[in-house]
Amino acid sequence: MASLKDRIDGLRKTFEESAREIGDAKSLEELRTAFLGRKKGHVTLLFEDLRSVPPEDRREAGRLLNEFKSFVQARLRDLGEKAIPGAKYAAGRVTGTSSVTAGATVIHSDEDLTLPGRKRYVGAIHPLTIFEEKIERIFLAMGYTIEDGPEIETDYYNFGALNFPPHHPARDQWDTLFIKGDLLLRTHTSPVQVRVMERSRPPIRIICPGRVFRHETPDPTHLPMFLQVEGLVVDEGVTFAHLKGTLVHFLRALFGETVKVRFRPSFFPFTEPSAEVDIECLVCSGGDPGCRVCGGTGWKEILGSGMVHPRVLANVDIDPERYSGWAFGLGIDRTAMLAFGIPEMRYFYENDLRFLRQFGDL
Ligand code: DAH
Repeated sequence: MASLKDRIDGLRKTFEESAREIGDAKSLEELRTAFLGRKKGHVTLLFEDLRSVPPEDRREAGRLLNEFKSFVQARLRDLGEKAIPGAKYAAGRVTGTSSVTAGATVIHSDEDLTLPGRKRYVGAIHPLTIFEEKIERIFLAMGYTIEDGPEIETDYYNFGALNFPPHHPARDQWDTLFIKGDLLLRTHTSPVQVRVMERSRPPIRIICPGRVFRHETPDPTHLPMFLQVEGLVVDEGVTFAHLKGTLVHFLRALFGETVKVRFRPSFFPFTEPSAEVDIECLVCSGGDPGCRVCGGTGWKEILGSGMVHPRVLANVDIDPERYSGWAFGLGIDRTAMLAFGIPEMRYFYENDLRFLRQFGDL
């Protein structure tokens, strides 16, 4: 043990003597190799000798050696900072010796300069928000205002006031998630129409985006929770031509002037007449019989619409003899799928950053 201590002391002296000579990165690297070099470094060799130390002394010898190694490393770091101001020098394995000799950079032992840099990501707006805001801007430009309503609704606002008679089979079309008694999760944004008409008088021009809920089994185009935007116009002399003109304008502003749109007769208890609107499938353009979005039909239904049923107006004390209105409800997620060319609605909700990072402004 004594001899080990002596050897260490001797080496410490040698180290300090050489340290005085250090003037640049090159001599510093030579000193480092002399002591910590992997094959013939003094410290390395001392560690090799540890094997021949009797077991009962090995612990203490190891401690002394480690202490000396730390000393050498710390000194080299100091010397590095002095010899090359501003540089970090750690006395371990040095990668990229050429840049050390160039004198410009001294490399931290743990750094592997061949690794690519770590990119910092800035948060981004969710694709559904981007899309919803685009819809809002189109209607705001036409003088509509944005309204809001509760996600937990009563049977009356979700169904009754919208002209669904109690126990009418039309209710089955909306697979309702009931809460308790009269309360349910709204199945569409149409109850907001009723709330707005109750608290304001024509002329009314509103849209209402929001979450809706249905008892659905998830598939590529259905989820138990999704987004809709409702639209409502009530005034004197409002006709189906206004409905058609506005919706065509809206869809062209959203998808471009050349988008193909078709109106189909339909039925909703709260509108008469009613129409559903399809746009061409922008995922397969009608060319894929196995398309997961349109099922090969080439069309995708994106909204329901119609002239507000006189009974709905009467329910909120708006005189149907004097006023008429039109309304629509659009599936935001489904329409965004077409706009972005996404075959799976679930992608929007899984928060997979690889998916979310792909979206910029439309
Ligand atoms: N609420 C309907 C649905 O969820 C969509 C709808 C159809 C809304 C016609 C309307 C409308 O305002 O007039 O399927």
